[in-house]
Amino acid sequence: MNGGFDFISSPLPKSRNQSFCQAIMRAVNSLLLLLAAALTVAVESPHNKAAKYVKRSNPPVLTKDAPRKRDTSQFLTNTTSKFAVNGSALPEFDFNIGESYAGTLPISANSSDPNQLWFWFFPSSNPLASKEITIWLNGGPGCSSLDGLFQENGPFIWQSGTYAPISNPYSWTNLTNMIYIDQPVSTGFSPGNILVNNEHDVAEQFKGFWKNFFDTFSLHGYKVYITGESYAGQYIPYIASGMLDTNDTKYFNVKGVQINDPSINEDSTMIYAPVVPALKYYQNVIGLNETYMAGIEARAQSCGFTAFHDKWTSEFPPSGPIPTGPDWTVTGCDLYDDIYNAAYYVNPCFNIYHLTDYCPFLWDELGFPSLGAGPNNYFNRTDVQAVIHAPPTDYYVCGGGHNLFPHGDQSVPSALGPLPSVIERTNNTIIGHGLLDFLLFANGSLITIQNMTWHGLQGFQRAPSHSQNLYVPYHQTLGEILDYVNDAVPDSPAFTDTAGAGYQGTWHTERGLTFVTVNLAGHEIPQYVPGAAYRQLEFLLGRIPDLSTQGDYTTQTGNFTGTTPPLKKRW
Ligand SMILES: *[C@@H]1O[C@H](CO)[C@@H](O)[C@H](O)[C@H]1NC(C)=O
Ligand SMILES: *[C@@H]1O[C@H](CO)[C@@H](O)[C@H](O)[C@H]1NC(C)=O
Ligand SMILES: *[C@@H]1O[C@H](CO)[C@@H](O)[C@H](O)[C@H]1NC(C)=O
Ligand SMILES: *[C@@H]1O[C@H](CO)[C@@H](O)[C@H](O)[C@H]1NC(C)=O
Ligand SMILES: *[C@@H]1O[C@H](CO)[C@@H](O)[C@H](O)[C@H]1NC(C)=O
Ligand SMILES: *[C@@H]1O[C@H](CO)[C@@H](O)[C@H](O)[C@H]1NC(C)=O
Ligand SMILES: *[C@@H]1O[C@H](CO)[C@@H](O)[C@H](O)[C@H]1NC(C)=O
Ligand SMILES: *[C@@H]1O[C@H](CO)[C@@H](O)[C@H](O)[C@H]1NC(C)=O
Ligand SMILES: *[C@@H]1O[C@H](CO)[C@@H](O)[C@H](O)[C@H]1NC(C)=O
Ligand SMILES: *[C@@H]1O[C@H](CO)[C@@H](O)[C@H](O)[C@H]1NC(C)=O
Ligand SMILES: *[C@@H]1O[C@H](CO)[C@@H](O)[C@H](O)[C@H]1NC(C)=O
Repeated sequence: MNGGFDFISSPLPKSRNQSFCQAIMRAVNSLLLLLAAALTVAVESPHNKAAKYVKRSNPPVLTKDAPRKRDTSQFLTNTTSKFAVNGSALPEFDFNIGESYAGTLPISANSSDPNQLWFWFFPSSNPLASKEITIWLNGGPGCSSLDGLFQENGPFIWQSGTYAPISNPYSWTNLTNMIYIDQPVSTGFSPGNILVNNEHDVAEQFKGFWKNFFDTFSLHGYKVYITGESYAGQYIPYIASGMLDTNDTKYFNVKGVQINDPSINEDSTMIYAPVVPALKYYQNVIGLNETYMAGIEARAQSCGFTAFHDKWTSEFPPSGPIPTGPDWTVTGCDLYDDIYNAAYYVNPCFNIYHLTDYCPFLWDELGFPSLGAGPNNYFNRTDVQAVIHAPPTDYYVCGGGHNLFPHGDQSVPSALGPLPSVIERTNNTIIGHGLLDFLLFANGSLITIQNMTWHGLQGFQRAPSHSQNLYVPYHQTLGEILDYVNDAVPDSPAFTDTAGAGYQGTWHTERGLTFVTVNLAGHEIPQYVPGAAYRQLEFLLGRIPDLSTQGDYTTQTGNFTGTTPPLKKRW
């Protein structure tokens, strides 16, 4: 018998299987054989295909070797040694995470100030990184930046639905020195009791800490890049602006910022106006019923959202200043909340951070952004906290229920405040968006951009083009994966490389501002489409001229520069 029956032969020992077949053959006539042959063509087991992918769930190949360790470190000194993290001491890790430093430093020049920020600093061995440092901040307000470190772009990741931490092939530390900071005070591991009233307070805390950090690690004059997502879209322009205002390049030499899926404007523009267009766009995966869709569209019209959205996403340049978005607090106009409920009835696991999630919730070490918060809270472990020099803390990745801003954030949205001037003063600002984000919408950011004036003009003068593609390099692992899958290579390693390649989104740059969209990313771009996020960091750091650049990652060589998939690797 030939390959057509592989799927039934596999559970049987070969000899028994052969005699079983022979017995059948002896017993049946040629008509039946013909029928069997026809069957193999017409109804092959669908599981044959799936079986090829089983290899993917092998345990990761773990190694005790440090993936990115320097032989000698410029950063290990008598002053910094108390922050040095033992790279092989993290519980549940079966590999050495390499060189890093963690701990807390005060937010002021007073070394006994109890108000401190906790940081985790990862030096890069990339020679191009020698005089630069990149900050990563999560938002909230009240979210710990360990979320980004642990699930998005850190040197190791432990993502939703995976059962062990792994070394991250798309770690931003491959490109640059990275620091993750819990801020403002009382977020994550950062101890202290002062609260903040506005973004000026946030920026002052940050600058105080930053001076201490630069002094401790002797980083004076380093270029500073600030990146983050969500509510960090409010923090970062204020922090960057506060730094640039000092003119002090010894500490605050800000050279670029990137804010992804950012909170930069009022909810009316960011959420309520774009939600119904996004719902229609993704109706085939969200699946609300037709009666509901007709009703919600009518409400979007009568509340004024449709006209507002359609006008300001299609006029380039805009015909004038954009009015404040329609008032969503009017009865019947809180469309987002209504849609959320309807989506939840249809899909009880609807995840606003990634609209294509379905049940069941994935188990998650942080309980976020997969919303199936379970018993797991890795960073609340006493043994983990000891390794990373965190003060003993009831650790929550987000919030912990207390209010950082007791009277709300009194600052205006960053796009109506310092963001345009940060663009002007860096000529290097990126606003990124995952299109599968159902919390903050790309079109909300676009309308907001159209209302900003920088370098003398309002908004983008040309419409972002659907054909200006964000190119993500093909890479060796994709070829290997294809080989394993197609040839069912025995004992092939499980793949832990989750980056796709080719055209992954679009980009548009005018006057120092780049707007990028990533097709398959949710709210956290590096988490869902790490190759696109890595590429954007390469652009921010000036390593590639633009996001259409076709070529390898600057840190990898191969020959996968085309727009078609790589040839299979031959053994
Ligand atoms: C660092 O500490 C060691 C041991 O305490 C000491 O011998 C050495 O002089 C110190 N180095 C500097 C540069 O202070
Ligand atoms: C680092 O941690 C490992 C594992 O706990 C331990 O064996 C080793 O002694 C530690 N190294 C140092 C320098 O403390
Ligand atoms: C430094 O902070 C400590 C603790 O809050 C306080 O007691 C001390 O007065 C402060 N020193 C100065 C110079 O402000
Ligand atoms: C920074 O430089 C600008 C432009 O030269 C100047 O207007 C401003 O006063 C300076 N700020 C500080 C804090 O020195
Ligand atoms: C964004 O706005 C454009 C222009 O109005 C529209 O064509 C597109 O469908 C919108 N996208 C989403 C996801 O709503
Ligand atoms: C546009 O900017 C003006 C001036 O800051 C502001 O009043 C208005 O609310 C903004 N509109 C939007 C949609 O951002
Ligand atoms: C359609 O969806 C709405 C919103 O969830 C719900 O109230 C209504 O019952 C649904 N209609 C049907 C027939 O399921
Ligand atoms: C953290 O762990 C402590 C026990 O060590 C527990 O009392 C506390 O509830 C936990 N906090 C969180 C946020 O999980
Ligand atoms: C930004 O670009 C403008 C226009 O090219 C230029 O005049 C300005 O000097 C640049 N500023 C910085 C900080 O690079
Ligand atoms: C990052 O560095 C690791 C270790 O050197 C390497 O295996 C990986 O290919 C690098 N990733 C990229 C995108 O360059
Ligand atoms: C890329 O292709 C060229 C020409 O085929 C070959 O000489 C070179 O070794 C290849 N480079 C890598 C890294 O595979």
